[in-house]
Amino acid sequence: MSQSLRLGIAGLGTVGAGVVKIVRQKATLLEERAGRPVTISAVSARNRDKDRGVNLSSYAWEDDPVKLATRDDVDVFVELMGGSDGPAKAATEAALKAGKDVVTANKALLAHHGQALAELAEANDCVLRFEAGVAGGIPIIKSLTEGLAGNDVERVMGVMNGTCNYILTRMEDAGLSYEEAFKEADGLGYLEADPNLDVGGIDAGHKLSLLSAIAFGTQVNFDAVELEGIGCVSIEDIRQAADMGYRIKLLGVARMTGRGLEQSMTPCLVPASSPLGQLAGGTNMVVVEGDQVGQVVLRGAGAGEGPTASAVMGDVMDIARGLRMTTFGKPASKLVPAQPANSTPPAPYYLRLELSDKPGAMAKIASVLGDAGVSIHRMRQYDHAADTAPVLIVTHKTTRSSLTEALTGMAETGVVSGQPVALRIEEL
Ligand code: HSE
Repeated sequence: MSQSLRLGIAGLGTVGAGVVKIVRQKATLLEERAGRPVTISAVSARNRDKDRGVNLSSYAWEDDPVKLATRDDVDVFVELMGGSDGPAKAATEAALKAGKDVVTANKALLAHHGQALAELAEANDCVLRFEAGVAGGIPIIKSLTEGLAGNDVERVMGVMNGTCNYILTRMEDAGLSYEEAFKEADGLGYLEADPNLDVGGIDAGHKLSLLSAIAFGTQVNFDAVELEGIGCVSIEDIRQAADMGYRIKLLGVARMTGRGLEQSMTPCLVPASSPLGQLAGGTNMVVVEGDQVGQVVLRGAGAGEGPTASAVMGDVMDIARGLRMTTFGKPASKLVPAQPANSTPPAPYYLRLELSDKPGAMAKIASVLGDAGVSIHRMRQYDHAADTAPVLIVTHKTTRSSLTEALTGMAETGVVSGQPVALRIEEL
C-alpha cells in the first residue's frame, strides 16, 4: 500500500468538522481515487472540549497551530482558522518553511499576503492551494488554472457572497427593507462575525482579487478593488430596477483593459433574464469569459459545511495524487504587479432621482445630461402624490467622468431633491 497522506487540521468550526467527517466517512473512496490513504494525524482549535459532532479521539491534539503545522507526522497543513494575520498567517508560514503543503479556505489571508505566501511555497517546493477560499463549493480555482488554461481570460465576474445575495433576493421577493432582510440573514446565522465583511463587499472583494490574479497572471492586489457594499441599495431601487427588467446584485467584475486591471465589487444592475439575474438566495455564481471557450457559468453553494469541505478535499486530493500546481496558475516570479485601471470602461447607468413636479424640471435634467455628453436610453416618471416625482433614467454607455459631471450638474439645477442614485448596468 502506498504511504498515506497525513493531514494536520487547524480550525474545527463548521468547515473543519466537515473535512474530518469526509476523511472518516469516505476513507475507502478517497483511497481508491488517490491511490493512497488520506488520514488525519493531528488537529487544533481554540476550545478542546467543544462537541463538534465528530469523534476526534484518535487524533493528536495541539493547542498551538504552529506546532501542529510543523509536526513530523503532518504532510499537509489544512488551515481553517481564518483571519488575514495572526495565528493563520504564522502557522501557514511555519508549515511552508517546514516543507509542508498547505490547503486553506482563507481568502483574507491570501488577498493580503498571497504573493509572499506563493513565493514562500515555491521557495520550499511546497504547494499552497485555496479552492475553498473562493465561492465555497464551486471549483472555480481548478477551472481557471486547469480547464481554462488555454484561454486568454477576457472577463471574470460573479456573485461571490451568498449573504448579500440572500439579502437582495429577500428584498425583492418579500418586499423587505434592507434592515429587515439583514436582520433575517443574521437570525439564520449567515453573517460573518464582522457583518461588514459581508455587506461591505470585503469578503467578496477578497475573492475577486484572487480570481483576478489567476485570470490575468497578476500579483494579488486587493487594495485596488473598487469596493462598495449593499447598504446603499434601497427597496425602491430593487422595485424600479425590476420594473425596467433588471435585478440588483453585489457583482464582482475583473477585466484587463488597455488602461490596466479593472476590479470592482459593487452593486450593479444585471438583466433579470441573465444567469446572474436569475441567481436567487444564498447561492454563488462565477462567470468566466475566455477567448477560446466563450462564456462559462458555474453556479453552486458558496458557503456551508458540505460545500466548503468539498472544496478543501478537492485540493487535498490533488496533493494526494501528486498534482503539484502553483498557487495562482503560474510561478509566483512570473506574476506581474497589477497596474490598476484608474477609470472604468463606458457602461450604461441606472439613475433614480426625485424631481420637483413643476414645469421645465425634466427639461433641465435632460439638458444637464446632454451637456455632459450622456445620452438617455430609457426614461420613466412614476405616479406620485407628493410634490416630487420619482424619475428613472437608463443611459446609453457613458464614462464615469461624464456621469459624475452630469450628477454634479443635476445638484446645481435646484429641481432634484436629495442625492440621485447611480448604479452601473453590467452587460452580459
Ligand atoms: N460569508 C460568505 C458568504 C461565506 O456569505 O458568502 C464565506 O466566504
